[in-house]
Amino acid sequence: MQATKTEVLSPDDAGISRAVAILRAGGLVAFPTETVYGLGGNARDDRAVARIFAAKGRPRFNPLIVHVADLGMAGRFAHLDERALKLAARFWPGPLTLVLPLRPDAGLSPLVTADLPSVAIRLPAHPVAQALLRAFGGPLAAPSANPSGRVSPTRATHVVEGLSGRIEAVLDGGACAVGVESTILGLEGARATLLRPGGIPAEAVEALTGPLDRPGPAGARPTAPGQLASHYAPGAALRMEASAPRPGEVMIGFGPVAGALNLSPSGDLVEAAANLFHFLREADHLAGAGGRIAVAPVPETGLGRAINDRLRRAAAPRP
Ligand code: TXA
Ligand code: MG
Repeated sequence: MQATKTEVLSPDDAGISRAVAILRAGGLVAFPTETVYGLGGNARDDRAVARIFAAKGRPRFNPLIVHVADLGMAGRFAHLDERALKLAARFWPGPLTLVLPLRPDAGLSPLVTADLPSVAIRLPAHPVAQALLRAFGGPLAAPSANPSGRVSPTRATHVVEGLSGRIEAVLDGGACAVGVESTILGLEGARATLLRPGGIPAEAVEALTGPLDRPGPAGARPTAPGQLASHYAPGAALRMEASAPRPGEVMIGFGPVAGALNLSPSGDLVEAAANLFHFLREADHLAGAGGRIAVAPVPETGLGRAINDRLRRAAAPRP
């Protein structure tokens, strides 16, 4: 789906049906949550998620929050231990996001999690978000619906100002009540970690969990998820800007530069982004232990910047 004109939809049955049809076709729909407007796409659809990054102009594949309709849906994508269930019972629906171990059978696009073994899950309280998630019946990846580097939108008009022509539609649910993003809590380790302060005060969470780990400002957010120790890096060595494979290398092509795999034969950066994590894994398997991967040049424009950022991390020397 290519966006042309951004439709403004009323938050009634007709608007929700239209939004669901767009999402099922791989399109993007911004929707109100109690915190800020989210830029929603089908979290199982690689292309839809790649288009979220393209629409925002994000230079990196930061992991995105997966929005769910209910606790049952959350359990299909993440492991919720007793502590997570207690927090969910107290704060969901509401502005608390839980980073939990990803289920191996989750079926989410690896672009949503930036290929991390964890997933951020949120059950929003806004009635329009809930109606949309119920009608869609599946997980929606949704970062804030603003171009990268701009302030988060709290009204449908803000979304249109920033993203008009880049997304298919926005559901107009009026002003957001909370106005700041959700609190993000990391629940992968034994201690709960405050990854981002937000709509639920940390003290309210601590009343249930006990003292939270609070990383300093530098570590407060994995703005560069590739720096996380747990981030997937291919076992094989990786060489960028390759015009042809050297002996023993598994070649990942792009556009006219051919390879055993090709990120996008037509040179489409959205398609390339959608394929990137899958192909890195596949090339890694093909290369085998101690193997080598070569990747064709990818232009440093639009989504190409995020693709090259990820490739540079994979190519960097590792301990
Ligand atoms: O209120 C909100 O949370 C809004 C509304 C739309 O729901 N959404 C939002 O999404 O703020 P976004 O993409 O702007 O923020 C997502 C942040 C990432 O930058 C990252 O810090 C964290 O969530 N995150 C997501 N997945 C993670 C993971 N697996 N591990 C650690 N942090 C993660
Ligand atoms: Mg944001």
